[in-house]
Amino acid sequence: ESLEKFFKYIILGGGVSAGYAAREFAREGLKRGDLAIISKEPVAPYERPALSKGYLSPESPSRLPVFHVCVGSGGQRLLPEWYRENGISLLLNTQVVNADLSMKALTTSTGRIFKYETLIIATGSTAVNLTDFGVEGADAKNIFYLRDIGDAEKLVEGIRSKRKGKAVIVGGGYIGLEVGAALRINNLDVTMVYREAWCMSRLFTLEIAAFYESYYTNKGIKLVKGTSAIGFNLKSRSGEVKGVRLKDGKVLQADIVVVGIGGRPLTSLFKGQIEEDKGGIKTDEFFRTSFSDVYAIGDVATFPMKIYNEMRRVQHVDHARKSAEQAVKAIKAGERGVYIEEYDYLPLFYSRVFDLSWKFYGDNIGETVIFGDPDPLSKKPKFGSYWIQSGKVKGAFLEGGTNEENEAIAKITRLQPTIVDLEELAKEGLSYALKL
Ligand code: FDA
Ligand code: NAD
Repeated sequence: ESLEKFFKYIILGGGVSAGYAAREFAREGLKRGDLAIISKEPVAPYERPALSKGYLSPESPSRLPVFHVCVGSGGQRLLPEWYRENGISLLLNTQVVNADLSMKALTTSTGRIFKYETLIIATGSTAVNLTDFGVEGADAKNIFYLRDIGDAEKLVEGIRSKRKGKAVIVGGGYIGLEVGAALRINNLDVTMVYREAWCMSRLFTLEIAAFYESYYTNKGIKLVKGTSAIGFNLKSRSGEVKGVRLKDGKVLQADIVVVGIGGRPLTSLFKGQIEEDKGGIKTDEFFRTSFSDVYAIGDVATFPMKIYNEMRRVQHVDHARKSAEQAVKAIKAGERGVYIEEYDYLPLFYSRVFDLSWKFYGDNIGETVIFGDPDPLSKKPKFGSYWIQSGKVKGAFLEGGTNEENEAIAKITRLQPTIVDLEELAKEGLSYALKL
């Protein structure tokens, strides 16, 4: 086989956005042999959010092929056969180590070269690692991260080998809260440690966080706030972690540690070749980068968020899916010489833990108003919050909403109606959004 191969289109990365982009290419009409997906992962694109939820469930855990894309948004599952049937080359276990944009060439770790006419960068993020900060003992055994299916398999193995053991979760963001809950459901003795005064502090208000923190505490999870992990103690024989040393001097016993301290977009292959912005690859409303015939989608793209008239990067799955579709539509429209609408994205973040489920739409800026029943002991807690800036509704959060209610809060943050009386809004609560 020749070391060099050409494809009209190459998607670099085989995650969520790659899968949705492939489906869009197929919908738009694709010639066999025109498209390749290059992924260092061993499996076809899947819905990454499953890894911190169903995948970690102790009873009938979710496993591939169940959560291949595009099931996460209610679509049909793209099994490996689907790529074959559509003449799409799925190059798995293939890591690109060099990208030369002017030569339009990607080189893999085994020295193969892939050339293209159009490139879509879909490399996603990597987990920020404690070893990056030189934290002592951070390379001990049984310290886990969670980014891809390989990580999830290792974590599941760790859970199995430490039944009823002690788990420490470092980080109070998405991974921390989702994996903390999952480990508790697996009957581990869970302690969460985070630097902030309350969890998910970049999004949650104190009132929202108070609900989830009480809920977690009621489930038997211990919370250690306002401090961070500065080192790990190891069992000298096995090299396994046995304790987490905290900045405040305390040491927490641990059989397993899971670290969730953020994601970093994988842009290093393109440094110096392409314009960047806010830590990502700068694109326009069609996800075109500063380099012609190169697009960037998903976590790596910093794009114009029209609704707020600002360049932003979004590390969430809804945008990964939608940016993929937009980029492929733009590529195909360009070939046909027709025009498509600019991307006009309304941010959607969500999470599910235990029996809880929340959604957030819009922007979390301005004053907040909480409504509903934020009692963690309620049978079916349902509450939310609005964010109001300059008299307009900018953001809305809802725990326990139905589809109809979630659509209503999406609509209200899209329309941004003017609010005269905050107290009145608090009293009306969800019904304000529903009647709009
Ligand atoms: P994604 O990370 O999905 O894919 C990137 C792909 O590129 C990977 O396959 C990677 O291996 C590959 N790659 C990178 N560099 C490469 C190279 N040099 N050569 C070859 N391949 C390379 N969001 C949300 O809204 N709700 C949720 O509930 C969750 N839950 C969640 C759980 C967990 C555990 C994680 C890690 C993340 C989430 N997210 C989420 C975030 C969401 O999954 C994320 O925003 C999308 O996966 C981003 O899609 P991308 O395609 O951009 O990257
Ligand atoms: P995050 O940004 O949500 O949370 C990171 C947490 O780690 C925060 O509490 C932060 O203060 C803390 N932290 C940061 N640096 C630290 C340090 N040096 N030491 C100690 N604590 C530190 O990130 P995450 O939870 O790791 O998630 C990673 C990625 O996965 C993100 O892109 C996220 O959007 C995505 N994700 C999303 C979901 C979801 O949308 N439901 C679920 C899981 C993961």
